[in-house]
Amino acid sequence: MIEKIGVVGAGQMGAGIAQVAAMNRFFVILHDISEAYLEGAIQRIEKSLASFLKKERITTKEKDAVLGRIETGVDLQAFASADYLVEAVIEDQDLKLDLFRQLDQICKPGVILASNTSSIPITRIAAATKRPAEVIGMHFMNPVPLMKLVEVIRGHATSDRTFDSTMQLAVDLKKTPVAANDSPGFISNRILLPMINEAIFALYEGVGTVEAIDAVMRLGMNHPMGPLALADLIGLDTCLSILKVLHEGFGDPKYRPCPLLRKYVDAGDLGRKTGRGFYTY
Ligand code: CAA
Repeated sequence: MIEKIGVVGAGQMGAGIAQVAAMNRFFVILHDISEAYLEGAIQRIEKSLASFLKKERITTKEKDAVLGRIETGVDLQAFASADYLVEAVIEDQDLKLDLFRQLDQICKPGVILASNTSSIPITRIAAATKRPAEVIGMHFMNPVPLMKLVEVIRGHATSDRTFDSTMQLAVDLKKTPVAANDSPGFISNRILLPMINEAIFALYEGVGTVEAIDAVMRLGMNHPMGPLALADLIGLDTCLSILKVLHEGFGDPKYRPCPLLRKYVDAGDLGRKTGRGFYTY
């Protein structure tokens, strides 16, 4: 039975996953490499809960209870007591492989190790552990507290038990799980990122301004936000790393990242998280 969920990485995705787990009565251990990141995550969670409180989706008592269910720490050994683990660190393959090697040693036998990776092959992550049958992709969407989808990705060796438990956990988190196979970008980013990349090419080639490109997609296609605003929300570094995975994984030039995207990343203008991307925040 899953009572305590470990979340590795307290960025926007990790914080969101921790929040949703605690809102659905799970105890959470949220880990990151520095106390400052953890404080930032708790602030983010408090802000999101305050927004739910304002809309009367939760009470003050529930808000406090949710925060009370989240324990934070910088020591990976704390995951020895976790019943399920979700990794949500940055999209760096070496970092993830190293983490999974360590988590495999620390977590109890049989505990499922899920990755929230947006594009790194689950099969490759699983192969870094001695429990590949218990490794799976559990890909949440940003902002996690609001988005219904969880893409569940089976690696080459993922067992039926791991798959079924993960689908059920997503339902217990009041999300809608959708199964995908382990292919570059899975379903979501194989479709989303080429659209975002094309929007950046349209900007690069002067077809339209940032505002014009986003307005066309919002007003003409009823997207809730334009592709450039969405890229800023996802993080331009994350967009670039997903495109590189698609480009390399398929060997098809149609996935080549737009030079303008590379330039923004080189400049350190990564979107909302740095205060500047295609827009200024
Ligand atoms: N927690 C709680 N409430 C939140 C929130 C959060 N994290 N983020 C936003 N809200 C609230 C806002 O406070 C706001 O509340 P009020 O109505 O009281 O003002 C409300 O949600 C609506 O927000 P906004 O008015 O700012 O904007 P919006 O109506 O456009 O909704 C949105 C925001 C839900 C993000 C919407 O724009 C949307 O659905 N955008 C697309 C998101 C998307 O495509 N996500 C997937 C990204 S891809 C990904 O994540 C995977 C990957 O691997 C890259």
